[in-house]
Amino acid sequence: MLPINELPAPIGPNHRRDFKDKVVAEIGCGGGWYLAEMLYQGATKAIGFEASRTVIERATQALQKLKLTAYEFREVDGRYLDVLPEKSVDILLEITVFQHISEDATKGYFRTSRRVLKNSGLFLCQFLMNDKNPLKDPYNPKEGTVYYAHKEVMELAEDHGLRVSKYGDWKWTDGKGSYWRLYVMTPNEARASAKA
Ligand SMILES: C[S@@+](CC[C@H](N)C(=O)[O-])C[C@H]1O[C@@H](n2cnc3c(N)ncnc32)[C@H](O)[C@@H]1O
Repeated sequence: MLPINELPAPIGPNHRRDFKDKVVAEIGCGGGWYLAEMLYQGATKAIGFEASRTVIERATQALQKLKLTAYEFREVDGRYLDVLPEKSVDILLEITVFQHISEDATKGYFRTSRRVLKNSGLFLCQFLMNDKNPLKDPYNPKEGTVYYAHKEVMELAEDHGLRVSKYGDWKWTDGKGSYWRLYVMTPNEARASAKA
């Protein structure tokens, strides 16, 4: 896990103010460390979505030990983010999850993100990228990793009423053209009003 302070440019060195007084939700929150960091940095509520009940139990214990209280965990189901009220989330975070799950599951999160995000909200999401060979095979034990091309991520955003406002890369590559990219997406107001 990367400390939140070391996430790349789109969150940036002044990210601290990004979480103050914000309602935050994290897709695939694992042990809850980003939730804890966002609470420490002033978030008023942190909601973690997790596929594993065991991981949720461990994360609950960890946050209790840290004496944090303004959190809740949701075990994911087919409703994805739709279990949250409309326009209730300021910041939606996803770090090192979309490379493990099927494209359909990632689309499920995108499909439900626009409704729960406030108009001023942000979706910060990380993808494992490979523009030449964006393999999608999460269940293959040898190559069980889901890569995206930049074009695909742009389409995912556009198709779900989001706009990519910034992105930044980690200083890492596997020598085969893969790299990590963090996107900042915002609700696409033009599209929302066109639909209304
Ligand atoms: C590599 S961990 C990342 C945890 C955390 N985001 C971090 O960076 O430390 C991936 C997490 O996603 C969870 N996960 C797997 N499938 C998921 C899904 N469909 N929805 C939400 N979480 C999922 C796993 O149980 C695991 O805890």
